Amino acid sequence: MSEKKFELTCLETGKKSTAEVRSGTLGPSVLSIASLPKEHGLFAFDPGFMATASCESKITFIDGEAGVLLYRGIPIEQLAEKSSFLEVAYLLVNGELPTAEQLAEFTHAIQYHTMINESLLRFFNGFQYNAHPMAMLSGVVASLAAFYHDSMDINNPRHREIFAHRIIAKIPTIAAAAYKHALGQPFIYPRNDLDYCANLLHMFFAVPCEPYEVDPVSAQALDLLFILHADHEQNASTSTVRLAGSTGANPYAAISAGISALWGPAHGGANEAVLAMLEQIGTVENVPKFIARAKDRNDPFRLMGFGHRVYKNYDPRATIIRAMCHKVLAKLGKSDNPLFELALRLEEIALKDEYFVERRLYPNVDFYSGIIYSAIGIPQSMFTVMFAIARTVGWVAHWQEMISDPTMKIGRPRQLYTGPTQRDYVEIDKR
Ligand code: CMC
Repeated sequence: MSEKKFELTCLETGKKSTAEVRSGTLGPSVLSIASLPKEHGLFAFDPGFMATASCESKITFIDGEAGVLLYRGIPIEQLAEKSSFLEVAYLLVNGELPTAEQLAEFTHAIQYHTMINESLLRFFNGFQYNAHPMAMLSGVVASLAAFYHDSMDINNPRHREIFAHRIIAKIPTIAAAAYKHALGQPFIYPRNDLDYCANLLHMFFAVPCEPYEVDPVSAQALDLLFILHADHEQNASTSTVRLAGSTGANPYAAISAGISALWGPAHGGANEAVLAMLEQIGTVENVPKFIARAKDRNDPFRLMGFGHRVYKNYDPRATIIRAMCHKVLAKLGKSDNPLFELALRLEEIALKDEYFVERRLYPNVDFYSGIIYSAIGIPQSMFTVMFAIARTVGWVAHWQEMISDPTMKIGRPRQLYTGPTQRDYVEIDKR
C-alpha cells in the first residue's frame, strides 16, 4: 500500500525525483528507492542494514521499542502459554493456526520423515570426535540435497511442501547423530510414538542397552524454548537463507547457509557464549570487574546475551525464559542453581549501570536459555544446535514466502568501491 511520496532533490544539479513511501500493516513505513540509480546515478549506502528493509514479509513482526513479538499476528506470550512447537511451525509456514485435523495431518507428515538415509548416517564417521556439532549440522544438512533429486523442483509447490516436512523432521535426527558421534555412542533411531521434543531428547539420551524414559518436564521446557526461537523476521541467518535461496539454489543448501550464519557469537552462538561467560565470571563478587570490561572500548569483551539490533527494551522472549527458569528449575529439583543466581545478579547490576541504560542494552533471548538447556542435560556445545533446530521452521517459512513470490529477484547488493583506480599490470621483474 502506498500512501505518500517523498521528493528527492539533488542539491548540486537541482534534479528532482519522487520516491514512493510504502506502508505495511504494522511498524515503520519504507521509502522505495529502487529508482535512485536510474534517476540520480546513486545507490543507497547502509552497511549492516541499519536502515534498510530487505523484503516484504507477512510472517513475523517485532516492535523493538515496545518489546513486542508477533508470529503471523499472534503475540509470542499467547503462543508460549497455549501452543506447541509443531502448531507454531504450522502457523509460521502456512499462515494460519491449524484445525485439529490439519495439526494431526501435519504432525503425521513430520513424523513420517524423521529417519535419515543410512548412508547419510555414515557421513559422521568422517568427522573428528571433537568436531563442533554446528559444523556437522551444516555439512550434513547441505548433503541432504544429494538424496532427494526427485523432489527438489523449487517451482513445484508440492515439492516445496515435502522439503518443509523433511527438513523439520530430520534436523533433530541429524543433531542427535552429531551428539552421539561426539560421545562415541551408538546412534538412536527416532521414535514416532513420541512428540517432537520428547523424540529429540530420546535420541540424545537413550542408549540401546537400557530403557530410557523421557522426562515430561524437560520435553515441555524444550518445546517452549523452541516456540520462542522459531522465527525472528529478517535476522542475519534468515536473511542468509533468503539470499542463498534467491539464486535458485536448492533449499537444503539455503538452510545450511543459514545454519552457518547462525553459528556466530553475535547471533545464535551467543547462547553458548553466555554460559562460558557466566562460568568465567564465576561469582557475584566478580561481576563489577566484568561489567567494567564490557564497557571498556579497548577490551573486546562484551556482555553476551545483552543487546539487540531491534529490541531497545526487554526482549519479550527473555522475559518468558527468565520466568520459565524459576519454574523449570523448581520442577526438576534444581532450584539451587548458582549460574542462574549469577545471571540474575548480572542482569540487575547491568540494568542499573549508566552505560547499559544509555545504550538501551537489555537481556536478549540467549541470556537465560542456556540455563534451561543445561538443566535438562544439553551440553554447552549443543546450545546453538538447539537454536538451529527451532529456527529451521522460520527459515522454511521465509524461503517458502520468497520462492512463491512471482516478483522475487536474486539478492544482489552493490558497494561503494574505495580500491585503486585503473592501473597497468607490472611485470614481476619490475616490481
Ligand atoms: N556488551 C557491551 N556493550 C555492548 C553490547 C554488549 N553485549 N552490545 C552492544 N554494546 C554497545 C556497543 O559497544 C555500542 O557502544 P558505542 O555506541 O559506545 O560504540 C552500542 O552498544 C551499540 O552496539 P552495536 O554493536 O552497534 O549494536 P548492533 O545492533 O550492531 O549489535 C548485537 C547488536 C546483538 C550484535 C550486540 O548487542 C552484541 O554483540 N551483543 C552480544 C551478543 C549477543 O548477545 N547476541 C545475541 C543477539 S539476540 C539472538 C540472536 O539474534 O541470535
